[in-house]
Amino acid sequence: MADYNVEQIPAGWDEAARFYDQHVASFTAKFARDAMDLVGVSPGARVIDVAAGSGALAIGAAQRGATVLATDFSRGMVELLHDKARALGLDNLAVRVMDGQALEVADATFERAFSVLGLMFFPDRQKGFAELSRVLVPGGKAAVVTWSKPDKMRVLGAFQNALWRALPDLALPLRPPPWLPLTEPEAFKKEMREGGFSHVRVHTVAHVLVFDDPRTAFEWVTGATPALNAMIGTLEESDLASLRQAFVEDVCEAQGSGPFGFEAEAHIAVGRR
Ligand SMILES: C[S@@+](CC[C@H](N)C(=O)[O-])C[C@H]1O[C@@H](n2cnc3c(N)ncnc32)[C@H](O)[C@@H]1O
Repeated sequence: MADYNVEQIPAGWDEAARFYDQHVASFTAKFARDAMDLVGVSPGARVIDVAAGSGALAIGAAQRGATVLATDFSRGMVELLHDKARALGLDNLAVRVMDGQALEVADATFERAFSVLGLMFFPDRQKGFAELSRVLVPGGKAAVVTWSKPDKMRVLGAFQNALWRALPDLALPLRPPPWLPLTEPEAFKKEMREGGFSHVRVHTVAHVLVFDDPRTAFEWVTGATPALNAMIGTLEESDLASLRQAFVEDVCEAQGSGPFGFEAEAHIAVGRR
């Protein structure tokens, strides 16, 4: 069973950081661009990226000329992002280890605040929204990205189907992810308003993940987050092989010989302090 509590242990993300950066961040960067386009990021704007990971948004914002502070509670992610920023010569991008529920930043510091597929993991999302609002100047804007319902994340759906088929005993107790409430746009809006935002709107966007080989898609879905990573780590080698085979068979049956595409839908809530 996927244990989502492991996603609040920074070490899990430290371990996932390199894989995440190499295989996942270029995809999440598409949603980060959507978020930036919705609220605008102009040269010189002061921007905070909360739960920044390896910098899908922070790097894009710095490349648009903003002065960016990227924060994450995983030291592994933060160090990796620091190295990437140096390699790209982005001296307008600073990084700091911080819990997004307790930002060590003065009130009213930034014009734009973002959290892309990050705040959704916080056990206390209200604190997460309130902190984003607190660090914004009055009139400043935030955008928060979360995945849509699990069935709108096709690669996860294919993984779950394979799990049910290959290892039904393991599949049955799958728990809903903790961010499920945010998949309802009205609930997402309400949480953001309660966190101190006005003019809140939720936009729905989708991008397609493309793989040449379904085995790579399997590695992607199982390596992308600590919860599935940990679950996979508990499997016997033979069970893992059956699960991979079921996934590959299902995907080939549905999509033929490839390339293999999986749509992923996300909601982006934008609001003004
Ligand atoms: C799915 S990744 C998203 C990373 C990046 N924003 C992106 O879009 O690629 C989730 C990130 O949230 C971070 N995270 C989870 N809980 C956190 C918390 N309480 N405070 C700060 N960061 C957190 C993790 O360390 C991880 O880097």
